[in-house]
Amino acid sequence: MRKIIAPSLLSADLVFLYKDIKMLNESEADWFHIDIMDTTFVSNISFGNLFIKKMKKYASKPMDVHLMILQPERYIEQFKECGADHLHVHYEACIHLNRTISSIKEHGMKAGVAVNPHTPVFLLKEIIMDIDFVLLMSVNPGFSGQKFINQTYKKVEDAKDLILKKHSSALIEVDGGINLGNASLLFKNGADILVSGTTIFSSKNPKKVIRRMKNSQK
Ligand code: DX5
Ligand code: ZN
Repeated sequence: MRKIIAPSLLSADLVFLYKDIKMLNESEADWFHIDIMDTTFVSNISFGNLFIKKMKKYASKPMDVHLMILQPERYIEQFKECGADHLHVHYEACIHLNRTISSIKEHGMKAGVAVNPHTPVFLLKEIIMDIDFVLLMSVNPGFSGQKFINQTYKKVEDAKDLILKKHSSALIEVDGGINLGNASLLFKNGADILVSGTTIFSSKNPKKVIRRMKNSQK
């Protein structure tokens, strides 16, 4: 089974960001996960598209961009131009989700749909065939450093069942509160990608944490 680790830059040392970008380039991490917030869909403010554009010059791995913004369809072109490789939009933030997903793909990016902890996976039944990723939020979005919501284990299984039933090739990504204690069970239940911020960047040896997380099911 494929196991992908996507460190979330929200927890990086933003003043000395190049140091963390270089560390991730050299590490076994697969992608850079970047959280974009709008003060409305979530109350926090983080980075804008210019941040991704600047990072792209130094980051040697795909940019996995998580939009926690209302009506994300307004910004698809801008995120493509600044170098996003994957664009995740929230189910709860899109009125015309089908059209938004088509537009992300037409712009040459991979498309993901994120669901908040309270949103059941079965609501993705009519879109699962069209997407590259299901992003299961295992915390309420907006902040790093929160506690993992245990119900997510079951949601990973639900997502796996739906994917198999609909013959979809979507990968399952889990985001929030991930540590070396829960990573193994998430992979075992069917997760393909784990996003992790605090656990990786608060460690004295982030490369080792990434390696252990990636190999945690063995
Ligand atoms: C939360 C973000 C996450 C967050 C993960 O809204 O989507 O990507 O940065 O950070 P940790 O691992 O600290 O929960
Ligand atoms: Zn995220």
